Amino acid sequence: MSIEKRVFGKADGRDVYLYTLTNANGLKADITNYGGIVTSLMVPDREGNLADIVSGYDSLAEYIENNPYFGALIGRCGNRIGKGKFTLNGVEYTLATNNGPNHLHGGLKGFDKVVWDAEEMQTDEGDALKLTYLSKDGEEGYPGNLKCTVIYTLTNNDELKVSYEAETDKDTVVNLTHHSYFNLGAHDSGDIFGHELKLNADNYTPVDEGLIPTGEIKPVKDTLLDFTKPAPIGSRIDQVEGGYDHNFVLNSSDGSLALAASVYEPNSGRVMEIYTTEPAIQFYSGNFLDGSNKGKGAVYNKHNAFCLETQHYPDSPNQPNFPSVILKPGEKYTHLTVHKFSAR
Ligand code: BGC
Repeated sequence: MSIEKRVFGKADGRDVYLYTLTNANGLKADITNYGGIVTSLMVPDREGNLADIVSGYDSLAEYIENNPYFGALIGRCGNRIGKGKFTLNGVEYTLATNNGPNHLHGGLKGFDKVVWDAEEMQTDEGDALKLTYLSKDGEEGYPGNLKCTVIYTLTNNDELKVSYEAETDKDTVVNLTHHSYFNLGAHDSGDIFGHELKLNADNYTPVDEGLIPTGEIKPVKDTLLDFTKPAPIGSRIDQVEGGYDHNFVLNSSDGSLALAASVYEPNSGRVMEIYTTEPAIQFYSGNFLDGSNKGKGAVYNKHNAFCLETQHYPDSPNQPNFPSVILKPGEKYTHLTVHKFSAR
C-alpha cells in the first residue's frame, strides 16, 4: 500500500499534512500531524460497506478552533491532575489548569494541539505513520525534556495500532493516550445507546465532584458500572449522573498486551476490540457533546460517540497507591494499544 499525503494547513507557522493509510482490505485512516489526530477511520460493516466511525472535522481550522480532543493524542499526562499540582522528589510542580481548578489532558496546549514531526513508514504489518515530538522542560509546568514517539499502524489484519515511547532527561510524569470518539454505526448515526460494551475490569476508581479520584479502588459488582458481561451502553445510562466518565481498572495489569474492551454495534455488525498494555481505561460516553460541535456533515450531540482511553489512572502523580507514572532518565516509557475491527 502507499500512503497519500496532502496539505491540511498551517499551525504555529509550520506545515500540517493529512496522511491516508490504507490496508489490504480497504480500511482507511486519515491522520494529521497536528495533535496526531485521526480525522477519519473507514471500517466495513457486516456487508462490507465502509463508514467513517470517528467524530471529527473537515478542516484544520476547525480542529484548532474548538476540538473536544476528537481523535487526538493526549499528553504529557492524560486525564485529570487535581488542582494542577504534584510533588516529585520533594519539589512541588504547578501545571496549567484548564478544567476548573484541575489540569486535564496535558493543559492549555497539550500534545493534541502541537505540530508533530511525521514520517511515513511501510512495515510488514501495513502502512504506518511515525510522529515525534519534543516536549520542552517546563512545558505546561512539567519537568524535563520529554522525547515522544508515537507510531500509528493500520495493519492488514484490520487493526489500528498505537504504539508510544517516551524518554526524559529529568524525573517527570507521563501518561499518554489516544482520544478518538467512536460510533461504530457511523460517526453521523446518532446515539451510542445500542452499542454493547464489555470491559475486562472488575474494579474502578471512584471520584469526587471534580472527577478527581478519592484514592479508593472499588468493585464494579452490583453498580451501574458493571460491564464485565456485555451490556448496551444505554441500558443504565439514565441512572448514571451526567453519563459515564469513569476510570476502570483492568484485570490484566502486568504490562502484557491484553483484551481490555469489546464493543459491538448490532445494526452494522461492527465490532471493536481494544487490547492494551496499560493498567486502566477511561470510558467516557460523550457527555459534554452538546450539538455545538459540527463536523464532516454531522452534528455531534450528547452521547453520539464514546471514548475508551487506555491509560494510567487519573491523578496518579498525587495517589501513592496507584501504579506509578514517574519516568526517570535512562528509562523508557512504552505503551501499546491495538484497536481490532471486525463485523458479525
Ligand atoms: C474525560 C472527560 C472530558 C473529556 C473532554 C474525557 O477523556 O474523561 O471528563 O470531559 O475527555 O473531551
